[in-house]
Amino acid sequence: LEKILLKTPGSVSAIMIGARWEAVVKLLPPGGVVIITDNNIQDIYGSRFPDFPVMVIKPGEESKQLKTIGLLTRELLRTGMDRSGFLLAIGGGVVCDITGFLASVYLRGIRCGYISTSLLSQVDASTGGKNGVNLGVVKNVIGTFLQPEFVICDTIMLHTLPADEYLSGLAELIKTGLIGDKTIIEILEKNYQGVMNRDMQLLADLVARSVKYKASVVSLDEKEGGPRRVLNFGHTFGHAIELHESVKHGFAVASGMQLSAGYSLAKGYLDRAQHDRIINLLNMYGLLVNYNIPAGTIRKLILNDKKKSGRNLHFVFLERIGKALDIELPVEEVVEFYRKNKI
Ligand SMILES: NC(=O)c1ccc[n+]([C@@H]2O[C@H](COP(=O)([O-])OP(=O)(O)OC[C@H]3O[C@@H](n4cnc5c(N)ncnc54)[C@H](O)[C@@H]3O)[C@@H](O)[C@H]2O)c1
Repeated sequence: LEKILLKTPGSVSAIMIGARWEAVVKLLPPGGVVIITDNNIQDIYGSRFPDFPVMVIKPGEESKQLKTIGLLTRELLRTGMDRSGFLLAIGGGVVCDITGFLASVYLRGIRCGYISTSLLSQVDASTGGKNGVNLGVVKNVIGTFLQPEFVICDTIMLHTLPADEYLSGLAELIKTGLIGDKTIIEILEKNYQGVMNRDMQLLADLVARSVKYKASVVSLDEKEGGPRRVLNFGHTFGHAIELHESVKHGFAVASGMQLSAGYSLAKGYLDRAQHDRIINLLNMYGLLVNYNIPAGTIRKLILNDKKKSGRNLHFVFLERIGKALDIELPVEEVVEFYRKNKI
């Protein structure tokens, strides 16, 4: 069991990796708890949930809408939950994002904790306190910052995750390795079989490394004024690919990282050998997808993603494996690179 404390001004969040999820009862208040989950998790794990009321949402991104927040609020009122209430999320990034947002607005704020069940949410989404819902296709545009009191990452739960969801999470793990912890990359290069077999010890080590790095960045910059921006590596192109090609987030980010590594090479920040190692790793895990976005569309998608219309954006490059560079440059330059280099 590894316990990582994420300290931000005004809160401490305990992220527990390798803990068994059933031990959550020790962390909960004796009453006033409501569990939020989705149908898939309910079907697999519901019979072992602690004995509290359960609210179930439909799995997937379509649930990340204000409408869901309204429906859940109505149900919470019906249970009589007051300000002393506690929301427990049991699910992936969607359930955790919805629960965190609801906890931060219900009666102007109640307590919450997460059991994080997908690889993507364990390595990324459930650390950092960001939450939110989408407005139409614009992702996470309505949300808040709220650190959950605890996050449990039990890697045994990853055995029931569908293969494409698992690989999608692996892409975010690779991202963390590339920007901040090169040991993650070395482990993924050397342990293909173990990773594909979802060896729980190996995964606990990888998740802990990823969480440690993300927690270190978030504790410096909770609200993304500066250092936290490196976490967007691969995401400027990745979000555009995700929207245009309707592929899973991690696969889109993998192709976004391929483009960003190529861009880093073209700018002279990254050397050829390191660039090739990155592409090999993405290929080894079968993460690269086909995409074909017209240059005019990519401009729109990039601006949309940045939720701004300015001339410049922050683009994350790599200097080497394990070290990112956040550089402000004109949107047009990024579009031009894409036009000349799309694969
Ligand atoms: N808040 C943040 O900082 C942050 C960061 C990254 C991503 N996100 C958000 O996270 C979301 C994506 O997260 P996700 O990939 O976990 O999506 P998800 O929650 O939709 O889970 C993916 C699918 O896997 C299923 N699932 C989850 N755990 C399972 C398990 N153990 N066994 C079987 N099935 C399981 C879910 O039911 C769902 O169908 C996006 O909405 C994204 O915006 C948030």
